[in-house]
Amino acid sequence: MDYQLHHRVITWIEQAAEKLRDSLQEDRVVEEKASRRDVVTDMDKGIEAFLVERIQAHYPDHFILAEEGTGHSIDDLKGYVWIIDPIDGTMNYVQQKNNFGTMMALFKDGEPLAGYIYDIMNHDFFYGIVGDGVYRNHQPWNVPAITGLSDCLILGNVFMFIHNKFNEQGALEQSLGVRNYGSAAISTLSVLKGEAGAYLCSRLSPWDFAAGWAIFEAAGLRYSRLNGEPLNLLEKSTALLAHPQVYNDLMNTLKTD
Ligand code: IPD
Ligand code: CA
Ligand code: CA
Ligand code: CA
Repeated sequence: MDYQLHHRVITWIEQAAEKLRDSLQEDRVVEEKASRRDVVTDMDKGIEAFLVERIQAHYPDHFILAEEGTGHSIDDLKGYVWIIDPIDGTMNYVQQKNNFGTMMALFKDGEPLAGYIYDIMNHDFFYGIVGDGVYRNHQPWNVPAITGLSDCLILGNVFMFIHNKFNEQGALEQSLGVRNYGSAAISTLSVLKGEAGAYLCSRLSPWDFAAGWAIFEAAGLRYSRLNGEPLNLLEKSTALLAHPQVYNDLMNTLKTD
């Protein structure tokens, strides 16, 4: 890992966090995307443009995959690829002014190098460097151990538990219960903090899981699709990020087709 690059990313994300906290003092422009439950604000676009501009100024040969479309359209994973979610939990940002995060990840030839997730309103910044470890607010972080599915809460989206397409209700019954934060960033951090044993979702985009993938790799935790197949940065898919024994218990519980 290039530590000059790493320190630059930390600075950019901390600047983004400051801008996001300040932005809550003013009214925002909120537009609907696919539906009234899927919104984007001027700050999603502004933060993404800021991060993309910083990367391009320093690393013009790197590729960028960013939710609001400021980066490149990529169809392979060769070279350095950044994945950016400028605000994860935009609905929470608008409705709660809390429980949202900024996520970035850096991959090389399809393999994770580093992931960054900042819980903006709680000033809680996690990153993971593959081959080095996980840090919380710049201090080494040991992820608390969780013994298994029957000893933990799990995180997901309530909609998928209602439809029970993957036998999530079996997982719910074995666990201590389900919580839903409405943000992949906040959910992923909750698993890293040991508050929950797993985060599972029926449909996530690459910018929702890329940073978690890299941090979980750095932490020695598990990640895949719900059927156990690998995640792919070029596709939306189901996703499961979990503590090792919880991952095994869920794999024995969920439907695999
Ligand atoms: C969304 C959040 C939400 C998840 C959605 C994502 P966004 O991200 O992470 O929790 O259920 O699938 O799209 O749009 O707020 O960046
Ligand atoms: Ca969005
Ligand atoms: Ca987003
Ligand atoms: Ca997102």
